[in-house]
Amino acid sequence: MVVIVVQEFCDSGTLDIGIRKKIFQPHPMWGLRLARRTLLRTAGEIARGMMHMHDSGIVHGDLKPANILLNSSNEDRRGFSAKLADFGLSHVLPDAVTSLATNTWGSIAYMAPEAFAGKVSRATDVWAFGVILWQMLTGAQPYLGLNQNEVIQGVQSNTLALSWPDEAPMSVAIIDLGRRCLSFKPEERPAFDSVLERLVAIERAIRAELLGLQAALDIGQAAAQETNANASVVMCT
Ligand SMILES: Nc1ncnc2c1ncn2[C@@H]1O[C@H](COP(=O)(O)OP(=O)(O)OP(=O)(O)O)[C@@H](O)[C@H]1O
Ligand SMILES: [Mg+2]
Repeated sequence: MVVIVVQEFCDSGTLDIGIRKKIFQPHPMWGLRLARRTLLRTAGEIARGMMHMHDSGIVHGDLKPANILLNSSNEDRRGFSAKLADFGLSHVLPDAVTSLATNTWGSIAYMAPEAFAGKVSRATDVWAFGVILWQMLTGAQPYLGLNQNEVIQGVQSNTLALSWPDEAPMSVAIIDLGRRCLSFKPEERPAFDSVLERLVAIERAIRAELLGLQAALDIGQAAAQETNANASVVMCT
């Protein structure tokens, strides 16, 4: 059977290119809060797409930034939205089956420990998502400087882990979620519906903080204006 996937044309490259261009890192024109919200919203789109696949009983099997496409969008402040692509290693999970044996391998840096033993499941996609989250936060490539065997042996034996930037500002909740996605035991990884819920809650908290800050600034400005007005009054009398 031949499966043909018809997908809209995505004109802004891949998430891999975006990460390399540092689109999730703060810079002078794009502050920390906006950078974090860009990351959270993009991660949310990936999680929503994955939730849809998993609800339909399909494991992606090759989730990685090069297989996530970016499409330009005027409706979003980021200027793009993210779409899942490349279903070449996807597997249909028969009803009531949670994992499958397979002899196909995805990209090594995104493979869960059990995937090296040929086991794919919804949880192996969640592991890959954890690596993607790490990349979006750090802007780095996973396991840089290690060869494939070192990565395979290290991940499989739980002796190699990605190092999270714990000191990075406004990142505690993101890191906590990423660490849970990268739990060694597949059953300890969250499902995509709770991943999405968490991402939305974190973005909301950052936004509320921003609005709180804006309100504080407004109050500060009003207070300053009042002081000036009082000063004028003082000067007039
Ligand atoms: N809908 C699309 N819109 C724009 N570009 C696309 C689209 N689908 C695929 N591409 C381009 O083709 C590339 C390869 O697509 P895909 O990942 O589906 O195939 P592949 O067989 O896995 O190839 P590769 O081994 O290069 O990943 C993507 O990285 C992207 O640049
Ligand atoms: Mg591909």
